[in-house]
Amino acid sequence: MHFKFLRALAIGVDLGTANTLICFNDNIIVNEPSIVAIDANTKILLASGSQAKIMHEKTNGSILTINPLKGGVIADFTGAELMIKAFVDRTGLRSKNPFSSSLTMLFSVPTGITEVEKRAVKTSAINSGASEVLMIYEPIASAIGAGLDVGSSEGIMIVDIGGGTTQIAIISLSGIVVEQSIKTAGNTFNNDIRSYFKREHNLLIGERSAEDIKIKVSEGSSKDGFDLMVWNVVGRDLISGIPKSVKICHSDVIYALEKSIIRIEETIIKVLENAPPELASDIHINGIHISGGGALLMGLVDRLKAKIGLKFNTVEEPLTSVIKGTSIVLKDKKKYSSIIFN
Ligand SMILES: Nc1ncnc2c1ncn2[C@@H]1O[C@H](COP(=O)(O)OP(=O)(O)OP(=O)(O)O)[C@@H](O)[C@H]1O
Ligand SMILES: [Mg+2]
Repeated sequence: MHFKFLRALAIGVDLGTANTLICFNDNIIVNEPSIVAIDANTKILLASGSQAKIMHEKTNGSILTINPLKGGVIADFTGAELMIKAFVDRTGLRSKNPFSSSLTMLFSVPTGITEVEKRAVKTSAINSGASEVLMIYEPIASAIGAGLDVGSSEGIMIVDIGGGTTQIAIISLSGIVVEQSIKTAGNTFNNDIRSYFKREHNLLIGERSAEDIKIKVSEGSSKDGFDLMVWNVVGRDLISGIPKSVKICHSDVIYALEKSIIRIEETIIKVLENAPPELASDIHINGIHISGGGALLMGLVDRLKAKIGLKFNTVEEPLTSVIKGTSIVLKDKKKYSSIIFN
């Protein structure tokens, strides 16, 4: 027997509510929306990732689109398994390495994950070809990905605003000292925008339109005179049933998101209140690091600074800091052994 071809493979997976990313050998090789489309009758997978997202809210009765994660954890087991399998297949690692002896998957998971939710991740990973399933907490991965030294005794505070969860954690000596996670995040902002149009304009808009508005407004806010910018939003009039268009501006979106932003601010304050004094002092000096796609929301960071009175640093690449951290941990599992669990 020649064993020299046997190669152990290891990938990192950021299984997010909005986006799933996979890394291998320092590279991000999958970065796709967390969604699948299946045949409603046979349950066979039709599309995954961005191809499935295009179909979302436009399907006929024979196609079903599923977002398998809610609030950062697996909510639809079948959908999650199909999605992980599809993304792992897409990497081509298995076909390019037919003689590989094993496949380790290191998942970044939310801090509030329960044993049952962990088991769902493990089972879907094993059914997708993993021989070993390891986990790390997302805020720790995010801090490592942002280049912070999580092993130091200096307190690090991370606020990760994703699609399904906002996770707030204070890290010291490779562990989480205080944490709180809430389900108010990017998807809540989209729902807030949809509710606003329903309430104020009797207009029904889709999830994707709401997300487009949020992102368009965020991008516009970096330009001069954004307050004067006006967008046309098209949806269905709830009274006449006919498609109609409504004009909105930046302040309408701020108004729509107000309650959710307050909820995030209050949770950050609660975590700060529970911080041991020495760590509070570190945070006062170094500020709070903010990551996740929600960090890109228009004016959010300035507002948090004004409300909380501390420095807020948006990490360099908020949408990829978790997978980058996962990739670093995967490369040196020995060094990071105290933060890996299964
Ligand atoms: N420019 C932007 N402005 C505002 N929000 C944005 C922007 N870009 C992305 N987002 C939002 O960020 C969210 C996705 O962020 P991210 O990929 O970090 O979440 P996730 O990791 O999939 O979710 P979770 O960690 O909660 O499971 C989405 O709600 C998306 O709408
Ligand atoms: Mg995330």
